[in-house]
Amino acid sequence: MSTDGKTGLQLRSLIKKSGELEISLTNVSTPEPGPDELVVRVEASPINPSDLGLLVGAADMSTAKASGTKDAPVITAKVPEAAMKAMAARLDESMPVGNEGAGVVIKTGSSDAAKALMGKTVAMIGGAMYAQYRTLKVNECLPLPAGITPAEGASCFVNPLTALGMVETMRREGHKALVHTAAASNLGQMLNKICIKDGIGLVNIVRSPPQADILRKIGAKYVVDSTSPTFMDDLTNALVETGATLAFDAIGGGRLAGQILTCMETAINKTAKAYSRYGSNVHKQVYIYGSLDPRPLELNRAFGMAWGVGGWLLFPFLQKIGPAEGARLRQRVVAELKTTFASHYTQVVSLQEALQLNHIAIYGKRATGEKYLINPHKGG
Ligand SMILES: NC(=O)c1ccc[n+]([C@@H]2O[C@H](COP(=O)([O-])OP(=O)(O)OC[C@H]3O[C@@H](n4cnc5c(N)ncnc54)[C@H](OP(=O)(O)O)[C@@H]3O)[C@@H](O)[C@H]2O)c1
Repeated sequence: MSTDGKTGLQLRSLIKKSGELEISLTNVSTPEPGPDELVVRVEASPINPSDLGLLVGAADMSTAKASGTKDAPVITAKVPEAAMKAMAARLDESMPVGNEGAGVVIKTGSSDAAKALMGKTVAMIGGAMYAQYRTLKVNECLPLPAGITPAEGASCFVNPLTALGMVETMRREGHKALVHTAAASNLGQMLNKICIKDGIGLVNIVRSPPQADILRKIGAKYVVDSTSPTFMDDLTNALVETGATLAFDAIGGGRLAGQILTCMETAINKTAKAYSRYGSNVHKQVYIYGSLDPRPLELNRAFGMAWGVGGWLLFPFLQKIGPAEGARLRQRVVAELKTTFASHYTQVVSLQEALQLNHIAIYGKRATGEKYLINPHKGG
């Protein structure tokens, strides 16, 4: 590692053909910036569920073992045989991790746009953020206003733009309110703040009373608990009141998506003027946008014929809306970074600490309010 940014540590995740995950740190040279590029000293990068998908893949972390040294730790774990097929595209390829982050520009290319960012704090998207230095294109960076620290700007892209993308999708597809699952997540809290500010009905589905409390404290009106015996009735009542016919489901597996469509159909039929044996003709849509539950999706099909279940991903959505609309959403994120889009972290760890079994056991749970931030320049 050098202090001039010429080389630095980078976290790598490797799944070997032999069925073993290996996470380690390696020293890499920082590419020289091209004319429209910047070198950023990375100071903060969150560990989000999508990063965990790459970091640990399908490995069974209950088999994880630590080796190496304090400065160069190595984590290994077994990947179950049945899961190896899904890992085929990444086998024996050592992969850098970390979707987004923030830091300070320490070197620039020759273009005016690049030079204007010298010394500035920027948020970044583009992968490989669990590293001390990153060379990126100017348009992969978002300059942060004075007074915003890298830690405050580290989660500018993935969760804020996804939450805004849900509301934008609702408007574009002609729905008037939303349902959201795993709703006390970091993203779910942002979505509540957006919907409260913009006057949009939002039905939050959580799986415990403490999660419901978190959301009620920030002003959520409709919160239903999927573990309650009255869940289906509670959800139906909230759908009647809000008129929500679009849901974003982070859980993905199990019965919940089908239950949401069933309750939507019941809610619509409560006010229907005429009976149709094909069910209501109001289109009901669930977008699966996460994989918190890896089990198969079960649909009981008790909701007529006007429905859809599909996948939703941020980057194809941003491509669809185009650069001008994308820039409008980014501007809102920056303007409301300390309020609507503020993220909270329970721990800030170094790259070495991120490879300690005690920390992996906590952030690996993807639990409410347990989000970690990596500071690649933190000692320890
Ligand atoms: N498609 C996209 O483009 C996109 C973009 C951004 C984010 N995402 C997804 O958005 C979701 C939220 O991200 P985040 O960073 O906001 O998460 P987060 O703050 O880490 O919170 C995760 C939440 O999920 C809940 N959870 C975990 N496993 C669950 C399960 N099996 N069933 C039900 N709930 C479960 C946790 O509740 P407990 O405490 O009860 O475990 C917690 O409330 C993730 O699934 C992520 O992959 C997708």
